[in-house]
Amino acid sequence: MDKIKQDLMKEVADLIKQGGVVAFTGAGISVESGIPPFRGAKGLWSKYNPEEYAYIETFLRNPEKVWIMLREMYRCFSEAKPNLAHLVLAEFETKGYLEAVITQNIDSLHQKAGSKKVIELHGSGDRLVCLDCKKEYPFIEEYLKLTPYPKCERCNKPLKPAIVFFGEPLPEKALSQAFELVKSCKVLIVIGTSGVVYPAAYLPYEAKRSGAKIIEINPEESAYTNSITDYFFKEKAGEFFKNLSFFYN
Ligand code: APR
Repeated sequence: MDKIKQDLMKEVADLIKQGGVVAFTGAGISVESGIPPFRGAKGLWSKYNPEEYAYIETFLRNPEKVWIMLREMYRCFSEAKPNLAHLVLAEFETKGYLEAVITQNIDSLHQKAGSKKVIELHGSGDRLVCLDCKKEYPFIEEYLKLTPYPKCERCNKPLKPAIVFFGEPLPEKALSQAFELVKSCKVLIVIGTSGVVYPAAYLPYEAKRSGAKIIEINPEESAYTNSITDYFFKEKAGEFFKNLSFFYN
């Protein structure tokens, strides 16, 4: 690491240690756990056109088709373990630096890493829900074997993961908690999101408007990089947190 990078890492580590930190995460933080992102050449949406697979209307019209994509998604989740980035965020919470993780992810890896305060903006794959009677079922692998798709035991209607499809509103409480958090945080660490899916994508802009410093980690530039980011680390989340560990202990 050159001297300039070292100084920058130290500055960022000192900022984090002052507390009042919130993390905003996207699919990129779980890439090193083996879960592909949504966008880009290896992304889920390059294999499954979101117009055909990710809208609530499509699920209602053709659940069998959408469950083909969902099965693949769940298989990636089942083998995935939290990586260093998830673990360090959990440690920051324990040390009192980090107030919460706001995530767009549905893979539960922040919770598996030990994070306690996790705001899930796009729901979670950890349970299935009947759109008719609203009964919820904790997700178990067995559901992936059911053809053409798992059904509600009460009304025999297709079960849908409790994740937010395009065309569905975000969970109201999570969204309002997220806005409160970014309005009052001193530092927002933005990790692995392209920043193009709204309303979640508003959060870093809101943080910046409220005076927070924006630290961004992403091997590619995002919608935020050249507009609001104060410290940009153009690298994988795992690499960033490995380097940071030399400065914050
Ligand atoms: N570390 C950090 N960032 C990474 C890594 C890595 N190892 N690998 C890839 N990235 C970055 C990519 O450069 C990209 O900017 O992660 C980002 C992933 O972007 P998207 O695939 O668009 O994921 P995300 O921003 O979370 O998508 C938002 O879109 O379809 C929806 O509901 C879905 O929650 C999702 C939302």
